[in-house]
Amino acid sequence: EPVLRIYCSAQAHSSVDKAVRIAGIGIKNLVKIKTRSDFSMDPEELSAAIEKDLKAGFKPCCVVATLGTTGVTAIDPLREIGEICHRHGVWLHVDAALAGTALILPEYRWMIEGREYIDSFVFNPHKWMFTNFDCSAYFVKDASALIRTFEILPEYLKTRTRGQVNDYRDWGVPLGRRFRALKLWCVIRMYGREGLIKMVRNHIEIARRLAEMISQEPDFEIVAPVTLNTVCFRYIPRNANSEETDKINEKLNHALNDSGKMYLTHTKVNGRYTLRMVTAQTNVTMEHVANSWNLIKETARNISPR
Ligand SMILES: Cc1ncc(COP(=O)(O)O)c(C=O)c1O
Repeated sequence: EPVLRIYCSAQAHSSVDKAVRIAGIGIKNLVKIKTRSDFSMDPEELSAAIEKDLKAGFKPCCVVATLGTTGVTAIDPLREIGEICHRHGVWLHVDAALAGTALILPEYRWMIEGREYIDSFVFNPHKWMFTNFDCSAYFVKDASALIRTFEILPEYLKTRTRGQVNDYRDWGVPLGRRFRALKLWCVIRMYGREGLIKMVRNHIEIARRLAEMISQEPDFEIVAPVTLNTVCFRYIPRNANSEETDKINEKLNHALNDSGKMYLTHTKVNGRYTLRMVTAQTNVTMEHVANSWNLIKETARNISPR
């Protein structure tokens, strides 16, 4: 039996690591592909990794492309990745956990250019489509691949409707499942397509304006492109080296979160401690973000004068 290999970018979510472990493929068979300067997967590196694995006798099985990586919301180039997958008969899964919501905007449809290559796609309405936790929407091109994997038929589940309805227990791991689609349906009915578009657009605009305000301050820097609603930034006091700057930013993050007035998460960008502001909450306004930005500046300069 050839050893299966899975590919994702070095910026992909830890759930991919977890999945390959659970599936028994083994973490050593997860190949992390280098990213380009905008933190998206480098398709040339992907192609080279697959070629190399084929020569070594491995079986390339699946590529996980991310639309909106966890750290900096980078967008992997779907068409190029899709063409590589198609050439090698490899399953293409797209993780659009956060960014998938932006696909309701015509101006962000470019992210899904090459969608004909996608085998499965997931996004989380609980992240940015105003739906209470938890609700993940999963789309699959050919359900029979799932059914061949998961189907099991104990006596008490032999129903007369078999074959006439979708038995979703055969599409995934759990048997019992809650009716999560209902709350998403309610959200869509309540806001409507136009309403959702307006809110999502507004969140992206707020992030853009925040990024503008940050770039106007000489003692702050934006550390990754602002594509959607995530702004990655750092405080850079004048007389601190890189390590000290990391520590100051960590202290700043904790001080802000301990204030109880706002909550920021962090990541590492090129190895450096980075703060992240994400505007995805249902009722967030420019005023909230402007007030937060004032608090961030004030707190930062109190910790370490510029
Ligand atoms: C890109 C990406 N994929 C997957 C996940 C996991 O999402 P969940 O476990 O909520 O479905 C996250 C969460 O942060 C994410 O950012």
